[in-house]
Amino acid sequence: MEKIIVEGGNKLEGELVVSGAKNAVLPLMAASILSGGVNSFTNVPDLADVRTMCKMLEILGARVEFEDGSLEIDTTDLNKWVAPYDLVKTMRASVLVLGPLTARFGRARVSLPGGCAIGERPIDQHLKGLQILGSEIEIEEGYVETVAPKLQGGVIPFDVSTVTGTENLILSSVLAEGETILLNAACEPEVTELGLVLNEMGADIQGIGTDIITINGVSELSPIKDHEVMPDRIEAGTLMIAAVLTGGDIFLTNCRFENMGALIGKLLEAGAEITRENGGIRIKSTGELKSIDFTTLPYPGFPTDMQAQMMTLMSIADGLSIITETIFPQRFLHAGELRRMGADIKLVGNSAVVRGVRHVSGAPIMASDLRASASLVLAGVAAEGKTEISRIYHLDRGYEKLDRKLETVGARIWREKE
Ligand code: EPZ
Repeated sequence: MEKIIVEGGNKLEGELVVSGAKNAVLPLMAASILSGGVNSFTNVPDLADVRTMCKMLEILGARVEFEDGSLEIDTTDLNKWVAPYDLVKTMRASVLVLGPLTARFGRARVSLPGGCAIGERPIDQHLKGLQILGSEIEIEEGYVETVAPKLQGGVIPFDVSTVTGTENLILSSVLAEGETILLNAACEPEVTELGLVLNEMGADIQGIGTDIITINGVSELSPIKDHEVMPDRIEAGTLMIAAVLTGGDIFLTNCRFENMGALIGKLLEAGAEITRENGGIRIKSTGELKSIDFTTLPYPGFPTDMQAQMMTLMSIADGLSIITETIFPQRFLHAGELRRMGADIKLVGNSAVVRGVRHVSGAPIMASDLRASASLVLAGVAAEGKTEISRIYHLDRGYEKLDRKLETVGARIWREKE
């Protein structure tokens, strides 16, 4: 196991390239199940979660090659439909194979994802949708089993906006008989990317990017060819906060304002200077940092995956910030660790009240989940003194060498054995 050590206090200045989006590539890898052939992707981030999904597909019988950002998945000889517990327990997004396996084989057996540090995270909406498409659902020994000789189109009203729920049911219905309509579908950019790629594969999906998505089933899909994965908007947002937090100036070469409006709005309100330059985004601190309130919401609202990182920024802002988490109400495990560094944070229900302090101080702290670990790395970079962050395997699930990237723009950050 490794830990990250940070000597805080440096301004971060320079140019960075944002990696491909984890939450875009995972559903696209699941989509490769639907096309018996060779699927290829570029700009794929080298993350623990991507490697877990590669392993999952290999267990199902696919041939997978992943090197230097290029990924090839040959699902010609895919012949298994069981996703084992020891893989699913390490990555909830494994549930994304449930729909495509059911669509391709008429059955699937996927271990139920367990609990998670950020909340209970049920998959009832995924199962409700599959039942509406005509699948039988059995839950036994911690597995969910589907049986559906041929999925039939239907109308699926989601009770909540769910990203992987929407993705799973798009993947389930593209080869079903007839028309499927998803109501209250998630509109996250990663869902849009999945829909557009499926249409390139021969699917017939309308309303992509809106809350009402219509899928007319087709008989077969051709493989994905050389699809370039979109930049990761959450990594981009994390790096933008790193610039503001340290009074720095960072240029993200491959990012644009689109699909980052809510975050950019809040950073501007807090006093950052953000401009479009040469096809990228430049973000600078103006020297002042104002406390602002925000509430996490489904897209295009403020993303829950940026809540922890923004809490770190508010910890040293000037005033009082009220942060309300509506997606995962318990997603505050980072607050306790930030308090160890001197932050003044009180949790009240699904809100956190953050009173800005002049600075946070380095301390030994512990990561608990992916975005919390990013918020703690950011705190270390801004802190006075030395911070040691343990359990950083959480960070490597969703960030491609974040510490290396921060080091290239001036952070004093390195890894040591735990
Ligand atoms: C996706 O998770 C992302 N993961 C998460 O990113 C992200 O935080 C989340 O969407 C919200 O934006 C991937 O895309 C792989 P949800 P997902 O289903 O799909 C409730 C990260 O850090 N719900 O949109 O699992 C659920 O409890 C990760 O990269 C049900 O009640 O989240 C939550 O309150 C963390 N029943 C809300 O909906 C269901 O069947 C939104 O969850 C499904 C969800």
